[in-house]
This record gives sequence, C-alpha cells and structure tokens, in this order.
Amino acid sequence: MQTFFFIGGLLFIFYVSSSSLASTGPHLTTLKQPFLASTSQQLTALKQNDLQPEDFKLKVDPSLHFENPRLMKAYCALQEWKKAIYSDPQNLTGNWVGPNVCSYEGVFCAHALDDPNILTVALIDLNYGDIAGQLVPHIALLSDLGVFHINSNRFCGIIPETFSRLNLLFEFDVSNNRFVGPFPKVVLDMPHLRFLDIRYNEFEGKLPPELFDKRLDAIVINNNRFHSTIPENIGNSRVSMLVLANNKFTGCIPKSFGNMPRLEQVSFSNNLLTGCIPEEIVNLQGLILFDVSNNKFIGKLPKNLYTLKRVERFDFSNNHLTGTIPKSICSMPALLDFRIYRNYFHEISGECDKLVDEKLLSMKEKDNCFPKRPHQRSDKICSQMINTQVDCKNVGCSTPQNNVVEQGNRKITPHKLKPSPQKVHPPPTPVPQPPKPTTKPPPVVRGL
Ligand SMILES: *[C@@H]1O[C@H](CO)[C@@H](O)[C@H](O)[C@H]1NC(C)=O
Repeated sequence: MQTFFFIGGLLFIFYVSSSSLASTGPHLTTLKQPFLASTSQQLTALKQNDLQPEDFKLKVDPSLHFENPRLMKAYCALQEWKKAIYSDPQNLTGNWVGPNVCSYEGVFCAHALDDPNILTVALIDLNYGDIAGQLVPHIALLSDLGVFHINSNRFCGIIPETFSRLNLLFEFDVSNNRFVGPFPKVVLDMPHLRFLDIRYNEFEGKLPPELFDKRLDAIVINNNRFHSTIPENIGNSRVSMLVLANNKFTGCIPKSFGNMPRLEQVSFSNNLLTGCIPEEIVNLQGLILFDVSNNKFIGKLPKNLYTLKRVERFDFSNNHLTGTIPKSICSMPALLDFRIYRNYFHEISGECDKLVDEKLLSMKEKDNCFPKRPHQRSDKICSQMINTQVDCKNVGCSTPQNNVVEQGNRKITPHKLKPSPQKVHPPPTPVPQPPKPTTKPPPVVRGL
C-alpha cells in the first residue's frame, strides 16, 4: 500500500505515477518535482487561517479522548463526511468509528509539518472505493492534509467552497467520479496545490485563465464537458503534464503554447481544435508526448520538428494535415510511435519505412495520400487537397461551422470527404477508458 514518510523539515519531494494518460492508452508518467512547502512563518500564518469545529457549530462528545486537538478536528470532518456517504459496497468507511482517526481505512497520519511531536491526518486515499456520496464542507477541517485522492468512486455534486482552506494540500485527485458544474475554481485558491486531476467527471463550461497562472506541475482535465477556447495565457503554465483530451475545446492552440519550458506530455486529442499546429512547438525541448489526434487541424507539420530530441510519441492522426513527412522526423532519436493516419499527407521518406522494418519505429499511416501505398484516400480527394495551399497566418481560429475552410478565393470542404459528424445519429464517440484499478499505482509520497 502507501508509503508515507515525513521526517520533519519543510521540504517535500513527491512522485506521482499514473499509468493512464487520457484515453490514449496506458502511458507511464513520472512527475518528480521538489518543492519548498513554505517557511515556518508562512506556515504559521496559514495555520491561523485554519477552520475550526466551531465554524460549523460542531460539538464533540467530551468523553472521547484525542491525542491532540487537530485529531479531534479530523474526527469531526470524517464523521460529517461519513454522514454524506450513501453507498459503500466495500465497507471502507465501516471502521470510521471512534477517536482513533489514524486507524480509519483510507486515512493516513504523519507528523505535522509545523510540529514534529504530533500526528495529524496528512493523506486521504479512497481510490477505487466505489463509494457513492458527496463531499461536505467539513472536510476542510483536515487542515494538515497534503494529499486527497478519491479517484474512481461515485461522489457527486460539487467541490465545496471550504476546500480553498486546505492550506497544505498539494495533490488533489477526484478523477472518475460524478462531479458536475463549472470548473471547480476553489482549487485555484489552494495555496500549495501542485497536482490537479479532475478527469472523467462532468465539469463543463470554460477554463478560467487563472488555471495557467497557478504554479502547478500537472493539469489533468480530460473527459469532461469543457468547451470554448483554450485561454491565451496557456503558455504561463509551468506544468510538465497537460491533458485536455476528450472535451469540446474549439479554436486554435494559442501561440503562447511554445513558452512552457517544463512541458513533457500534452494531449489535445478529441476536441474541435483547428488552425495550424503552432510552429512554436519547437521551443518545447522537453516534450516526450504530443497528441493532437482527432481534431480539425490544417496545414503542414511545423518546420524543424526533428529538433525535439526527447519525443517518444507523436500523434497527428485524424486531422486535415497536408504536406510531406521528411526523413528527419522518422529518425528523431527517441521517437517510437508515430501516428499520422487519416490526414492528407502526400509524400513520405523511405527512411521511415526502413525504421519500421527494423522495428525501431511504429508508424500508422493509412488513409493519407501517399502514392503506391495500400489503404490510401482516393486520387480525386487527394489531388484537391494537395493543390490547396493553407496560409497559417490568415487561416483564423474559428471552427468551421458549415465544414468549409475559406482559402482565398478557393473553398475546400474537408468534412465532405468523410461522413459529416452532424448527422441525426451522433457518431460513435471514443469510448473513455476510466483509470484502471489495477494499473494505477498508489501515490508514493516522500519527505526529506
Ligand atoms: C463494516 O465494517 C465494520 C468495521 O470493520 C464491521 O463492524 C461491520 O460489520 C461491517 N459491515 C458489513 C456490512 O460488513
């Protein structure tokens, strides 16, 4: 199970391993990000801001004995939460009884950061619990909480406003539940949040631009109902992992995208994004995974992609991309998986096939316009697309409503080439793959 050590001090290092990135299949992710929690002065200031049971008019049975007042607060929080749990098929909260909260299932204690002599609740892990219920405002009484993981349950409703008072929280994972409503802005007020995972819920509407100004290490929000455009300030973010897949984002990838020096993994897959893939991508020298599959991108691949020496996987499949696939891309030093199927590329270097034959590269290139290859699009469609020049500067970012891309005085109708998505019967949407219970390892948290 979990390993959770605090050996005093204020310096954390945390590792998060997650084996399912978006719906794009298992992909092992390691985030390794040391961070200085705060100075003791800051910590004291934060502590003064902590919620108290009186804030909720809670009274505790005076016959119960608690090792310290913070465990008494934790008892209040957990008992109130238990009242809002309506189904617990594995009886995980069955032993949430009595004052010894550190022995409760899914509740882990550690020495307080500001007082190594006392134990407080530092971690909640109810992952894969299948619990139905709601989050209650009282949970914010767990003011020493560093990690809150409730992924793969049936929690519904919204994230309570009081969660902004979780002053030490740095990992918040409520993925694969039934939360609804707009983006939970309360996470923006958590002063130490680094890891945000709200994928597989039903959050909807716009993303607040503040999300990208916050010092996070990971933003994982795939498989929700977010729509509208991606905020222009995306490039302010310092995340290493950004997963926006399987929502309904429209417009272009903002130009500032190239300013994210720590970005290693990014997925825009399965949205309604358009425009050209920004040339600025070549500034992202740490990139390992880049997935823009299943969108409406047009134009050619950015120049000098080959300079991205760490990329292991490129997925450009199912867009309206044109042009050639140079040798320099296929022979990128770390590239293992290259997907370009369902586009309009018309030329590819023989070097790519050589690497595939030597099993150094996996490539999926069906349904393009490569001459003399099997499973390509028809000559008629291809000649129309190949002769169309896309001017990325002037192409605009509005997702074509009527499936027509304006192109000077020439019009191309890429969507007519495929069944129109706006039929009476909605097209089969990609089946979301919820995080798999057996493959997602529990968090490992280490302190120095
Ligand atoms: C749930 O767990 C508690 C404590 O472990 C136990 O007393 C209770 O009988 C269990 N309930 C069921 C329905 O198994």
